[in-house]
Amino acid sequence: MTTVADVRAAEEPITMLTAYDAPTAEIVEAAGIDVILVGDSMGNAVLGHDSTLPVTCEEVESRTAAVARATDETLVVADMPFLSFGVSEAEGIENAGRMVKEAGADAVKLESGPHTIELTERLVDLGIPVMAHLGLTPQHVNQLGGYGQQATTEEAARELLDLARAHAEAGAFSLVLEHIPANLAGAVTEAIEIPTIGIGAGPDCDGQVLVITDVVGLGEWSPPFSRQFGDVRSEIERAVTAYREAVESGEFPAEEHAEVVEEIEDVY
Ligand code: KIV
Repeated sequence: MTTVADVRAAEEPITMLTAYDAPTAEIVEAAGIDVILVGDSMGNAVLGHDSTLPVTCEEVESRTAAVARATDETLVVADMPFLSFGVSEAEGIENAGRMVKEAGADAVKLESGPHTIELTERLVDLGIPVMAHLGLTPQHVNQLGGYGQQATTEEAARELLDLARAHAEAGAFSLVLEHIPANLAGAVTEAIEIPTIGIGAGPDCDGQVLVITDVVGLGEWSPPFSRQFGDVRSEIERAVTAYREAVESGEFPAEEHAEVVEEIEDVY
């Protein structure tokens, strides 16, 4: 079973993928992925929203519980949704606690900034492992004005490095770096003790994470830094069309799909 200690000490590249339901989590675990992130990317990926902002604690909790029930070996990280932390310390702790106590997450992820340093320390003190997240933090989309690359100036790069150090010191067990220059991600990885997990951050991180619907080719769109390793959308389209045609033509259900009970022949 992968633990946060294993992730911290990993010598091989760490593999992380999102999953939002039990069957997908089973497949991800069987494929040997180290960490499943029940990401608030579920907002765009499977809940039909055009950002992560509407995602609720109840949605992340319910989907984390499904993923936790379906897995034994994989570290399950629940993503804390927009405004479920940072409003008050007590509320942030309670919401993170729900993910662990009620949903069965092994850790939580917080989109990080200066406002999450103390909360990270507090959660870790209380026994809730924290994965930090810097660079492009999609919960700030309205402030950032889009989903572009972050930390592209020297000042912003230094700020990010300082925040990475501060979260490592606060006790985070790993750090997601999203959509930042690859050379900065390499420098952060060198500078801090905890592993970095990159998405759109180049090859020099200690691990990589992608969104499952991008990887399997289920969504209609995926970011340019991602890669589609399959074409599940076409396969679902093929199967659904074949089903419709079989019903319309009368070919399905066939005899082997229908059970006849002789004893009730007299009913007619
Ligand atoms: O919500 C998510 O899936 C994420 C990853 C992209 C890191 O935060």
